[in-house]
Amino acid sequence: MARHLITSALPYINGIKHLGNMVGSMLPADVYSRYLRQRGHDVLYICATDEHGTPAELAAKEQGLAVDEFCAQAHDAQKAVYDGFALAFDYFGRSSSPENRDITQHFARKLNENGFIEERAIRQVYSPADGRFLPDRYVEGTCPHCGYDKARGDQCENCTRVLDPTDLIDPRSAISGSTDLEVRETKHLFLLQSKLQHEVEAWVARHEDDWPQLASSIARKWLNEGLHDRAITRDLDWGVPVPADTWPELAAEGKVFYVWFDAPIEYIGATKEWADQDPENRDWKAWWYDADETVRYTEFMAKDNVPFHTVMFPATELGVREPWKKVDYVKAFNWLTYYGGKFSTSQKRGVFTDQALEILPADYWRYFLIANAPESDDSSFTWEHFTATVNKDLADTLGNFVNRVLSFSKKRFGEEVPAGGEPGAAEARLGEEIARLLAEYEEHMEALQFRKAAAALRALWSAGNSYLEEKAPWLEIKTDKDGAALTLRTAMNLIHLYAVVSEPFIPATAKVMREAFALADDTAVWVTAEEAKALVFVPSGTPFTVPPVLFAKLTDEDLAAYKERFGGEEG
Ligand code: 2FM
Ligand code: ZN
Repeated sequence: MARHLITSALPYINGIKHLGNMVGSMLPADVYSRYLRQRGHDVLYICATDEHGTPAELAAKEQGLAVDEFCAQAHDAQKAVYDGFALAFDYFGRSSSPENRDITQHFARKLNENGFIEERAIRQVYSPADGRFLPDRYVEGTCPHCGYDKARGDQCENCTRVLDPTDLIDPRSAISGSTDLEVRETKHLFLLQSKLQHEVEAWVARHEDDWPQLASSIARKWLNEGLHDRAITRDLDWGVPVPADTWPELAAEGKVFYVWFDAPIEYIGATKEWADQDPENRDWKAWWYDADETVRYTEFMAKDNVPFHTVMFPATELGVREPWKKVDYVKAFNWLTYYGGKFSTSQKRGVFTDQALEILPADYWRYFLIANAPESDDSSFTWEHFTATVNKDLADTLGNFVNRVLSFSKKRFGEEVPAGGEPGAAEARLGEEIARLLAEYEEHMEALQFRKAAAALRALWSAGNSYLEEKAPWLEIKTDKDGAALTLRTAMNLIHLYAVVSEPFIPATAKVMREAFALADDTAVWVTAEEAKALVFVPSGTPFTVPPVLFAKLTDEDLAAYKERFGGEEG
């Protein structure tokens, strides 16, 4: 079995994330990790909060907290929400950890030894009104490429091009809005990405055919524009300090690394944090160092993160001249919109992950979001679509099936899976159909095609309903008690199968379904299509209980209340 390293883009520390962030990184990574684990692979799923940079400093200031204290609290707050969403990270770390500091400094020293870092005096935007140098993302203005008027000095989120603050037309301070900006001279470290262009190109060329088109086209576009040398230090109080052994002068001035330099390194740092919790049994280097032959590394992220993961971080790793694991597969997502407009953290538009959990349990969200993941295009969240999907797929197709079968069987045959009857043509047809759909589901999961996988899962649930309609055990029982027992036993086997294969999407409900049956040594280990076909995993005589309604049906009043609370119009 392969070893799978999985990471999802590290959420910025400031602020609870919205559903768009969730569906574009952590949730699909969790679904994929759970699937691979169930299939018996060795999986390490790592994530962390991305804690450095100006936004954290400013948010801390706003709350009157020291920045480290703010980050510690904000990390715990995010972790609580992710626990609520049942994200089964092996470790959820912090980019401000000592582990990340050490590895980041190591990377910088090595890049320097190998001639890929240079100290340069640069002229940097200084805002007298704010009394500070402005980090790139705190200079706003008009994008010279696409004309978007809220482009940030590091990247235009409209056309995804990476920018320098001095590229912007009509620049202003994003902190105070002041347009009285000066340029002052200061020294910084530059990563000489231009020297790595050919190597990165060759590396991308070896991988891009395997990547989804969204990822490879963005990588290509960036390479075609040419890799520019980039300043990787900043004048901030909060960050990984430049190591004094190598750059005493800059260290004395208090320079720290740029957040985008240490953030991807935190994928490694967090793995070491994980190992440091149990050093006897965990080997972080086995996942990251010289692991090319043995580890398959998959990254999950939204499209604005793609340039950093397909070009900049690989360039860093290549320049270190040590065998650090590089990504094998980049799963990139488009945007989830809210009624066709942007989800916005700053404007509080859309649904935030903590609010989502106040309304309904995680499984409702997990299923809906993955079934509508913005894979090939942007997709739009609307309350109408959400409530209709919950009612149709979760409440009617799955939930109702489970409750109907178990309650009816209990009423007519008692609290054990009924015996009697011999499988016939209908069961054989059902078995074939289940095996075919399960194979389809697996194929889409292996290909990380989440919407298609969700559709195959839904089709598996529907197949149970069709079988039940065909056999109609509530009529059958009047004339053929054994026949009805067979139908219900077969349907109960479907319930158990659903419990196993639905686990990546709806883990809490899957557990309830599985535990409805008192099977000895039952686990969620995957079933092969061949095993599934027979539908005899749960034998007659197995005691069962009828769980409470699995998914509540959402009413028109619920819909109205959601729209009232969150706003449900085109924005
Ligand atoms: O865009 C973001 O939310 C960043 N915090 C992602 C960082 S991913 C990684 F490189 F750390
Ligand atoms: Zn632009």
